Amino acid sequence: MKSEENRMNRIASILGIKYPFIQGAMSWLTDAKFVAAVSNAGSLGILGPNAGAHTVTTSADETAERMRDQIKQTQALTDKPFAVTLIVAGGETSIFTKKILDVVIEEHVPAVLLNSLGGVSSATYGVDPATMKTLKAHGIKTIVRSLQPSIEDAQAVEAQGADIYVATGFDEGGTMPGGEIGSFAIMPMIADAIAIPVALAGGIADARTVNAAFALGAEGVYVGSRLIPTTENPAAENVKQLIVDSTAEDLTLFRTLPDYYRSLPTKLVDQLAENDRTLPAVEAKKANAKLMGGTSGMRIGMLDGDLEHGYVSVGTGISMVHSIQSVQAVVDELMADYRG
Ligand SMILES: Cc1cc2nc3c(=O)[nH]c(=O)nc-3n(C[C@H](O)[C@H](O)[C@H](O)COP(=O)(O)O)c2cc1C
Repeated sequence: MKSEENRMNRIASILGIKYPFIQGAMSWLTDAKFVAAVSNAGSLGILGPNAGAHTVTTSADETAERMRDQIKQTQALTDKPFAVTLIVAGGETSIFTKKILDVVIEEHVPAVLLNSLGGVSSATYGVDPATMKTLKAHGIKTIVRSLQPSIEDAQAVEAQGADIYVATGFDEGGTMPGGEIGSFAIMPMIADAIAIPVALAGGIADARTVNAAFALGAEGVYVGSRLIPTTENPAAENVKQLIVDSTAEDLTLFRTLPDYYRSLPTKLVDQLAENDRTLPAVEAKKANAKLMGGTSGMRIGMLDGDLEHGYVSVGTGISMVHSIQSVQAVVDELMADYRG
């Protein structure tokens, strides 16, 4: 018979949370109020890039101080664990990441989400070793979500001592993996390749999809789009309602850098889709990345609610969203069948 400890879900136990439910890091679409609500609901909230911000800054110091402010506000709203995103993609860790890492350590944040490139090429497997070493030395829990999950990347991440790996399927919202492997296929492939616990990202939006993730070998779920139409999320109200009123059939997939995005209809998306139809792939990617302005188009579309000049990036799980609810109601609904 298994001991009580063996029966405990590893992700919940590593992170010190009630449910093995991790909120996806989302650029512009997180802030202290939202993240604290997720953590107070028994899950792990994550402050994403540009958390709590409405304007772009190119200063690394300002970026780090903005994050410190959000961390302090989150700590004032919850005594539960939460995490901060560190972007470690692209070789040497940037000065932005280094400064945020200092703040994470100074403010005693218990966990981080490390964003890396993953299986794009053998040169990009794993995460920046220096950052991982520093995090481990400070006892900070590490969740690694690679832009493109792969067997080799997952094994490299495990060998580096990461605590949790997130397998992301093509069903997700945000920057999509160029590997084009759906959530149903990526999950067992990664779970069979490594021994550390794996959470599934991409299309998790109701209790059925949570149960399916566990049946496929996941020990946790990683949820983005489903948490946008919630009362606590900073997204614009018209965007929350648009998500509620839409299904996966309303999404347009188009090429951009590094590979793909999908969006609900906006005027900008008409242009992006037109480029995708008419230009060679490489040209379409470049032209669309320029039109999208990095994640600025996400801020304009999703935070400001400007459906002319921005885009609304969500995953195919939106068909299962039928109303704007509190974060607590969403977490309780998704985890209804979870029994520890
Ligand atoms: C609007 C939006 C913005 C996102 N921004 C980021 C980001 O900045 N960094 C990141 O690692 N993932 C980002 N993601 C991906 C999520 O963290 C997560 O992997 C994804 O939402 C999971 O799929 P789902 O949307 O089907 O739940 C974003 C997703 C969305 C919907």
